[in-house]
Amino acid sequence: MVAGKIADPHVLGENLEQPRAYYLPERTDGKEAVRMLNGEWDFSYFGSVLEIPESVCSIRFEDRITVPGCWECFGYGQKQYLNVNYPIPFMPPYIPGENPVGVYRTEFMHSHLDDEKVYIVFEGVSSAMLLYLNGQYVGLSKASHLQAEFDLSGAIKDGHNVLTAIVFTWSSGTYLEDQDAFRYHGIFRDVYLLSRPCQHLRDIFIHAPMDGEFSVDLSYEGTPEEASARILCPDGTEKTVEGGRARIDNPVLWNAESPVLYTARFECAGERIDIPFGFRSVAFSENRELLINGCVVKLRGVNRHESHPDKGWTVSKEDMEQDLLLMKRNNVNCIRTSHYPDHPYLYQLADRFGLYVVDECDIETHGADAAYQKQPAKSIASLSSNTDWQEAYVNRMRRTLGRDKNFPCVIFWSLGNESQIGDNHRVMAAYVHEADPSRPVHYERTAYPDPPYGRNQPPIDPCVDVVSRMYPDLESLEYQAAEAEDPRPYFMCEYAHAMGNGPGGLEDYWKMIYRYPRLIGGCIWEWCDHAVRISDPENPDRVLGYGYGGDSGEFPHDDNFCVDGLVLPDRRPSPGFLSMKAAYRPADVEVVDLKAGLFRITNHLDFTDLSALTLAWSIVADGKKDVSGETTVQVAPHETKTVQLPIPSAWPEVELFGGICLSFLTRDASLWAETPTELCHFTFPYAKGAPAEIVPASVEIREGANPRYTEIQAGKNVYTLDLATGMLCSIRTPGGELLAEPADLTIWRASTDNERRIKEQFKAWHMHKAHFYAQTVEKGEEDGEFLVTGFVGARARLPFVYVQLRYRFDANGVTVSIDARRNPEFPLNLCPERAAELQAPRLYLPRFALRLRLRSEFESLRYVANGPCESYSDAGNDTCPGLYESTVTEELFPYIMPQECGNHVDASYVKLSDGVASVTVEGERFEFSALHPTIEELDEARHTWEIPEKHMTELLINYRNSGVGTNSCGPDLDRRYAIVEDTFSYSFHLSFGAAD
Ligand code: GAL
Ligand code: MG
Repeated sequence: MVAGKIADPHVLGENLEQPRAYYLPERTDGKEAVRMLNGEWDFSYFGSVLEIPESVCSIRFEDRITVPGCWECFGYGQKQYLNVNYPIPFMPPYIPGENPVGVYRTEFMHSHLDDEKVYIVFEGVSSAMLLYLNGQYVGLSKASHLQAEFDLSGAIKDGHNVLTAIVFTWSSGTYLEDQDAFRYHGIFRDVYLLSRPCQHLRDIFIHAPMDGEFSVDLSYEGTPEEASARILCPDGTEKTVEGGRARIDNPVLWNAESPVLYTARFECAGERIDIPFGFRSVAFSENRELLINGCVVKLRGVNRHESHPDKGWTVSKEDMEQDLLLMKRNNVNCIRTSHYPDHPYLYQLADRFGLYVVDECDIETHGADAAYQKQPAKSIASLSSNTDWQEAYVNRMRRTLGRDKNFPCVIFWSLGNESQIGDNHRVMAAYVHEADPSRPVHYERTAYPDPPYGRNQPPIDPCVDVVSRMYPDLESLEYQAAEAEDPRPYFMCEYAHAMGNGPGGLEDYWKMIYRYPRLIGGCIWEWCDHAVRISDPENPDRVLGYGYGGDSGEFPHDDNFCVDGLVLPDRRPSPGFLSMKAAYRPADVEVVDLKAGLFRITNHLDFTDLSALTLAWSIVADGKKDVSGETTVQVAPHETKTVQLPIPSAWPEVELFGGICLSFLTRDASLWAETPTELCHFTFPYAKGAPAEIVPASVEIREGANPRYTEIQAGKNVYTLDLATGMLCSIRTPGGELLAEPADLTIWRASTDNERRIKEQFKAWHMHKAHFYAQTVEKGEEDGEFLVTGFVGARARLPFVYVQLRYRFDANGVTVSIDARRNPEFPLNLCPERAAELQAPRLYLPRFALRLRLRSEFESLRYVANGPCESYSDAGNDTCPGLYESTVTEELFPYIMPQECGNHVDASYVKLSDGVASVTVEGERFEFSALHPTIEELDEARHTWEIPEKHMTELLINYRNSGVGTNSCGPDLDRRYAIVEDTFSYSFHLSFGAAD
């Protein structure tokens, strides 16, 4: 059996056509050139290739399966999510004998003519395939994400044909495809036949630099008459290409903001091939900037995997359109195709919509690190510097470049991802430099093994043209931006890990990127959550929700590290997505003089004057639009200008909040957005309502039936203070009891994914079990005043924060004032051997809040704070101050792994009501959230469906809630956003009345 070849790293394929530019030919004689073979094919699955008969004709087929598709999505094989680890033992090139195979069969009719060649193209097969036509062996393919083309002419029959493909789960290619994703298998991309003249045009390489000097390299199958070529210009004119050259005077250049395409039309031997292309140049300035067509460009990027919750790696044209439209409408201008070449349609779309693409080769050998437990010399020697694998590396690059070279969207060639750095990379880079000198070479892992980023960053290998790093912290980034000697620009191929709640800190990164020429931008990790839909094991028809690693019973797996996207698997935007939209905004607005309508406006676009957008303004008073209008401002790319906007200077009085809102919207219709589509917005507050007056009341204090409790009658309300805990345990209004459980103080929040490391320390300190312990509870000197002292602490540990708390009851409610002092002994090392920890920076408090546990009927929410979606001190930069209406149910964001969510910064007013009674909080710049699940319920649930039914409304009134950061894969939480202060105080007024 030919299966030995499957594991042989020297065998890269058999009878594969040479790589060529992507195109679909047309016939000028009216014949059918392209026939899609997608559809239902016969299918059979075996545990090993040894189980199938020698003759493919005698294989029995038991099932039908959809092509393209991943067989795990149809119940075959094992769904498996892996990050760094390999799915097989690491002993390259060994492949287990139990290497499941899926056998596919389809039939087609063909009228074969002797003067025609018939090719079959597979756009993607994982992981390797043996192909047979009418029982005759055609060839073998490897490299899952690369096009495989075979000449069927020798085996095809006139009439009925049977095509059989044996697809292997693993192959030598598996060692090169260790990307962080669910591992899927099968014929997962399109399959089609091409009927072509025997002699024909084969490969086309268009060169179209910005100076308009067009040239093209052509190669042929056989020796047909030379192809005729002309350029169809966007203005409708044509230009003939002679001797492979043409000159277009003043070409309209392609860039992501204005993606103007020309078409090169080739005619040869009865075929027509149209290749859209753009005139554009990629270069770096002396100042280490990225220049597209000579203009400085910043890359506002995302990393995108091909991923679908039901179809795995199979994404349709509509899926790709949906992704790219979402990107364009939300200010993204760059995609890194992490970590393999995508479906060719993606590049066509990126060309048309205008997105720069970092096109990455299908190579990752990350798991060598895990296998050798970070012994760099060994892991490098195993694959990336192993000459047995060299041709495989170069072949993959040749096929990547070969297929995608004519797409103007591709601005960098990337050698792959996380494969250590070895000689094989250097050979790949040399190949790229020679094959396509018009585009820089990118590869991140050249500073292998370990990545200090700043002053001590190891030298970056000379084989790449751009310094690319992952997840640097701001300090390192600034050092590299300002001081480093390396003459190459600095790119963050990954930054801001968007796992769960976050990413935080995007604003800070972008301030720096705009400030330093050397920083050419970066790509957020990553576009979408990868997940699989999980059904109830007891009732398979009932879908529970989205699952991740481990939910399909696989071993090993990497848990929920695959749900780290800006959009959910179904592409619903997460709050992090909106933060991205804001950080990538086309313009910035600062107030110079609000009353005079004077604003300083910066244009962040690279090619477009802001006058191409509509600037809409409105005055919003207490949530209602008062007056509004539209205007345009002229600000050239990268310029800042002070402009006067025609906004009236008389503003309505407000009860709660008044603001001037500005937004930039698309003005002209485009391929990617209906107009107007809002690209960014700003709100500048002009007035906030004064807090309700506090009306003193004569307060009646009585001992409860149980001496532990004191009852306080103030105005129409009766409160019960628990003398044992110092906390309110009942609030009775004429509308009834408001509390579901006693109030408390807390420093805990449902750990975010970004706390996945630090939470172990938090938990070692029992911070997740901390609550308020009262030491003294006394009546104060003033009428209706109670003074409580105590601390927030946990069993078996020192107190975390000492607290003095004052209640002052009045006619409508109570003022709560809190003075807190962090215990200087915290954190203290838990045992003497861990003394080094004393040197470590102090642990931050996740939050500090009063928890008010109301009955679950408190559902309607009105607030003055940043909204409408959640915001944290370092995230949610798309939110604006304002008066918002919401519901407690909607405040929960369904992170696939439930966690802290729903916070709002800069709150001054919060009102919750159950339709009968209401609770209002007023204060200055506090943070709050109001959710049905409790902190503990969110913390414990590992999937959204595990969140218990609602039984309360938990209102958290935070002094502060720490920022979210990106520590799931990035730097530690920036201290500016962490609660580390020695002392702090805050106070707020709670009132309890009837609902409106
Ligand atoms: C990077 C890697 C990505 C992904 C990410 C973590 O190191 O390149 O593929 O694994 O970390 O989500
Ligand atoms: Mg990896």
